Amino acid sequence: MILVTGGAGFIGSNFVLDWLAQSDEPIINLDALTYAGNRANLASLDGDARHVFVHGDIGDRALVDGLLATHRPRAIVHFAAESHVDRSIHGPGAFMKTNVDGTFTLLEAARAFWGTLDGAEKAAFRFHHVSTDEVYGSLKPTDPPFAETNPYEPNSPYSASKAASDHLVRAWHHTYGLPVLTTNCSNNYGPLHFPEKLIPLMIVNALAGKPLPVYGDGQQIRDWLYVKDHCSGIRAVLAGGRVGETYNIGGWNEMANIDIVRTVCALLDELRPDPAGPYARLITYVTDRPGHDRRYAIDARKIERELGWRPAETFATGIRKTVQWYLDNAAWVADVQSGAYKDWIGANYSAR
Ligand code: NAD
Ligand code: DAU
Repeated sequence: MILVTGGAGFIGSNFVLDWLAQSDEPIINLDALTYAGNRANLASLDGDARHVFVHGDIGDRALVDGLLATHRPRAIVHFAAESHVDRSIHGPGAFMKTNVDGTFTLLEAARAFWGTLDGAEKAAFRFHHVSTDEVYGSLKPTDPPFAETNPYEPNSPYSASKAASDHLVRAWHHTYGLPVLTTNCSNNYGPLHFPEKLIPLMIVNALAGKPLPVYGDGQQIRDWLYVKDHCSGIRAVLAGGRVGETYNIGGWNEMANIDIVRTVCALLDELRPDPAGPYARLITYVTDRPGHDRRYAIDARKIERELGWRPAETFATGIRKTVQWYLDNAAWVADVQSGAYKDWIGANYSAR
């Protein structure tokens, strides 16, 4: 079996669902169920013995030690993190605690467990760290996309905490020999995405007739990858990646934020027309994010060359599936917009 951390969040729950759709290898899913963790994402696995959910913190060393000793996973796939840049600006402490201290605790537990293994079990064990392209900083318009060899230049509390965790993972390999893999991925989108991030926020606001808040001039560029392609990339690296290496995962799809928002509006116009008029009428430019990175882009040739991975979805196919998923899952959308969600929306947008 494998141990997944953060498997009730956006990417983690997609990963768990995809894994168990194509394999009978069980998963232990350790998740603290912060505001971003949602058991409902995994409701289709209720009663499925292949999925063992554990409500707990990666920073709880005794808990993690116990899980490793009891279940003896062949790999740890580490998603658990505080993941939202805007929240890291409002309150960086939780990011240091989970992303830095939590990863440290998990590495120490993994090192102790790996030290008890012998022979083939020891050789096969992997610690797979899921990270972000934001560790590389911000690109100028004509810069080549991020390669694995780019220097680290994180600019936000979130990306600094993820960069720190990447460095810990690297050091645990070089110093202790822990068999690690690191993947640095671009912006994901797709089903089960919590509506604090750009694409799901725009969908749920548009459907509610609320303003679509575009930061600054809306010309910031991100590379967008459909979440299930990220999951297949992680599976490829876990299966065949070279120990100690990092692999960039991206969608070969750079787009400006305003074009993303206009695409979402056009799809909604087609799939759920609003009698009040085109959804783009709701686009509202608001005060920019402090320290906002201008451009991210991923050079994903290494994972393609070594492991034959390429994304299956184009942005056109992936965003259509995504918008349709939100239209088909109104109950999920309503449930996640709790009081705490409304508090966050107030905190982040009311003074912009
Ligand atoms: P998310 O915020 O949707 O989910 C994070 C999950 O981790 C939640 O289920 C939460 O409950 C859990 N968690 C948080 N703190 C924890 C703790 N201390 N112990 C146990 N569980 C804890 O995040 P996501 O968007 O799914 O991102 C998952 C990972 O992928 C993160 O490491 C993130 O940095 C990375 N990543 C995300 C993206 C993206 O576009 N979303 C892109 C590249 C990399
Ligand atoms: O690049 C990978 C990263 O992508 C991940 O590591 C992060 O976990 C993930 O949250 C994401 O970070 P971003 O900051 O790029 O994602 P977000 O959806 O918050 O914002 C995308 C862009 O849209 C960014 O330029 C800011 C802008 N934006 C965002 C929101 C929420 C807006 O213009 N308006 C908004 O309301």
